[in-house]
Amino acid sequence: MKTLEERILKDGNVIGQNILKVDSFLTHQVDYQLMKEIGQVLAEGYANQGITKVVTIEASGIAPAVYVAESLGVPMIFGKKHKNITMTEDILTAEVYSFTKQVTSTVSIAGKFLSPEDKVLIIDDFLANGQAAMGLAQIIKQAGAQVVGVGIVIEKSFQTGRQLLIDNGLKVTSLARIDRFENGQIIFGAADL
Ligand code: G4P
Repeated sequence: MKTLEERILKDGNVIGQNILKVDSFLTHQVDYQLMKEIGQVLAEGYANQGITKVVTIEASGIAPAVYVAESLGVPMIFGKKHKNITMTEDILTAEVYSFTKQVTSTVSIAGKFLSPEDKVLIIDDFLANGQAAMGLAQIIKQAGAQVVGVGIVIEKSFQTGRQLLIDNGLKVTSLARIDRFENGQIIFGAADL
């Protein structure tokens, strides 16, 4: 997605060897116009596939996911990392280890929001090691629902996430694919959309 790549080049900052800071439009402050465009493009990529739910994980997945859901005309559900006292009944969970943050969190979704008839599109802001998407896919399968694909805003193709998801039979669609960082410069590979 050309406008996204341009925005990453304009406002993204490379931190160390493998982190891209995009807090001015995606992970902290949110540019809703760009998110809306991202939502439309990802939704078009999965049009006519009978998607019934969009699932993401808090926090930074929520902004793009809500616009994908709007474009597809379906509900968006986000996995919670902290158990809420109101979540009492029938909780589906998965353990998600973050290599970046070096913490494991238990991701939860209330069972009542997913059913075996659901065809689910997973959305996330970053694909790095793929643990977040794998955890969500595990939860969706526990509900007996089908994962149709995984839509990603920014993929770091030099990390293992994409291959892990593909090896587990998941289709991956990324709007921007970063091949590598070279002396602080961002080098893109060919995006999926
Ligand atoms: P994974 O999400 O592919 O499993 O990879 P990893 O465990 O490495 O990522 C853990 C967290 O770090 C995720 O956020 C992910 O979005 C974020 N992350 C990974 N690489 C980058 C990067 O280059 N830049 C930025 N800004 N974030 C990155 P999270 O734990 O789900 O939390 P949240 O920040 O969305 O709340």
